Amino acid sequence: MRQSAPGNLVILTGAGVSAESGLATFRGPDGLWEGHRVEEVCTPQALARNPALVHAFYDARRAKLAEVGPNAAHRALARLDAEWPGELLIVTQNVDDLHERAGAKRLLHMHGELTSALCAGCGARIPWNGPMGHGPKCPACGAAKLRPDIVFFGEMPYEMDRIDAALSRADLFVSIGTSGAVYPAAGFVQIARHHGARALELNLEPSVGSSMFSESRMGPAGELVPAWVEEMLKSSPSL
Ligand code: APR
Repeated sequence: MRQSAPGNLVILTGAGVSAESGLATFRGPDGLWEGHRVEEVCTPQALARNPALVHAFYDARRAKLAEVGPNAAHRALARLDAEWPGELLIVTQNVDDLHERAGAKRLLHMHGELTSALCAGCGARIPWNGPMGHGPKCPACGAAKLRPDIVFFGEMPYEMDRIDAALSRADLFVSIGTSGAVYPAAGFVQIARHHGARALELNLEPSVGSSMFSESRMGPAGELVPAWVEEMLKSSPSL
């Protein structure tokens, strides 16, 4: 425990936080990849080889966003974001927009966003709703090189410098609804612990790196997260 008060929080979220909203996780029995191999839909090679399939996959996921809404876990995290007086950063691996629809502000999407398009020509990131179809023109440069603004396997996640800086200052690192199977996010707990933070895991089942955490609580995010947020806001702001 450090002397700094109020404490600095880094909160990592994964697909489990959106499961109770009706969005499939990746690695469960009904996993989103079912029917597709990851290499067919989530790599730069797949986009080059079969752009129609990749666009159809992400168009369907984008369309699904209109059918779902934030759940109690997203709302509790938005409340913590609004009320926590210290530094706080929610780093989500999710490409849905449920954290922001719940009101979270101190948020970054390290794996990109369904509601954004990326121009492979000029690098512009453009707000995007509705289907992308196949290779529409970039409004910034005119090249027909727009693609989903999703970090594919083999690509560098967004904002790693900002994440590393936040991890190095964290007093508490909290991982919610992620299996810990995908790096670099899976390594955040180690980085935070190396810098002296405590680490708490909130998940349905132990993640791959579960032994790295100071504390693990198992259960649905819609129950665990509101209870934890309540505890945090009631406790003294110094961790
Ligand atoms: N509440 C809490 N946790 C849950 C819930 C729930 N209701 N439902 C499922 N989980 C847990 C599962 O037990 C699992 O450990 O959420 C985790 C989801 O793990 P994954 O499906 O592997 O998702 P995630 O960790 O976010 O995947 C990381 O992998 O495919 C890539 O880029 C993709 O961002 C994704 C990354």
